[in-house]
Amino acid sequence: MTCPDPAPEQRREAPTDRMLRLINDGFLVLLVGIGHRTGLFDALDGMPPSSAAGIATAAGLNERYVREWLGAMACGGIVEHDPTTDTFVLPSAYADVLTTRAGPRNAAALAPIVAMLAAVDDRIVECFRHGGGTEYSDYPAFVRTMSEQSRMLFDLALIPAILPLVEGVVDRLERGIDVLDVGCGSGHAINVMAARFPRSAFVGYDLLDTAIDAARAESQALGLTNTTFEQRDTADLGHDSAFDFATTFSSIHDQAFPRRVLAGIARSLRPGGVYLCADAGYSCHLGDNIDLPYAPLAYTISTMHCMPVSLGLGGEGLGEAWAGPQALDLLAEAGFGDVIRHTPPWHEGFDYYVCRI
Ligand SMILES: C[S@@+](CC[C@H](N)C(=O)[O-])C[C@H]1O[C@@H](n2cnc3c(N)ncnc32)[C@H](O)[C@@H]1O
Repeated sequence: MTCPDPAPEQRREAPTDRMLRLINDGFLVLLVGIGHRTGLFDALDGMPPSSAAGIATAAGLNERYVREWLGAMACGGIVEHDPTTDTFVLPSAYADVLTTRAGPRNAAALAPIVAMLAAVDDRIVECFRHGGGTEYSDYPAFVRTMSEQSRMLFDLALIPAILPLVEGVVDRLERGIDVLDVGCGSGHAINVMAARFPRSAFVGYDLLDTAIDAARAESQALGLTNTTFEQRDTADLGHDSAFDFATTFSSIHDQAFPRRVLAGIARSLRPGGVYLCADAGYSCHLGDNIDLPYAPLAYTISTMHCMPVSLGLGGEGLGEAWAGPQALDLLAEAGFGDVIRHTPPWHEGFDYYVCRI
């Protein structure tokens, strides 16, 4: 007789252990974010065992704060402490996943999102009680935080891996076409494409002035002449047959009116045009997500940002877990009759829909 596999719950930690770890890690992640933003992890990378004062000097930071931070990191098991010399060292295995050189594998870069969400805690509690939602202005760190996340992806993968998912588009971009990015945020995707494909013309729209200002500033600093950025509510795009290629990067699931945006994108394409919808890949069926490594993070961001910003504008509050049948239905409803869904292994938790009319 073979023994059945223990149920997943039995394989999990005892609740008291799980909660102790959760609460400690929840506090610690705030300081991981500060370690990332202040450059402490980068300063520690490759440094021999050093005193708090030496580390503070290397990072150009205040010694008293650095010493307290090191206490948390040592007790949290991230930094090693030698009590005989009172020195600290960042083990290389942690440096590999906490420093800038880790690129998109830099887990510390995710930590500032926690601080951004914590700032709206009171508003979200009110939403739980009375419904409604939040405003983008409730998240002063949103543009910076979002830009840092997506910039790593665009720098690494946009040209070599993402665009080739859309058959034929790289050749067309080389020859010169009109491109629209909806919900462009701080515009890095457009600026990367515009620099690589000087014969094409690129337009980016976003609701937020601060994001558009950042997009224009970067375009100007790069000396690009083929970009246009405009602050605009894309619930009504107002274009007919003006573009050959349209993109959205993480900007459908948090729209107030995603159906209107998708229909507007479909209308804005010329015959033969193509739309790349890159967005959160969490299924609309909870059961599909339950064991995914980043699913708790995705549902938390959704509850405290993506869903409430949509509801706050009177929208439908789709949330991050919209992928699969629901996303395909929305794309079909907008008029996209030919949709191919890519789930590349190099971008966990993300879907790339290549859509044609
Ligand atoms: C999750 S962010 C993604 C930004 C950018 N695509 C990136 O990957 O960095 C979604 C963006 O959609 C924008 N957005 C949301 N609703 C919008 C609307 N109705 N019109 C224009 N932009 C909107 C937000 O301001 C935000 O910059």
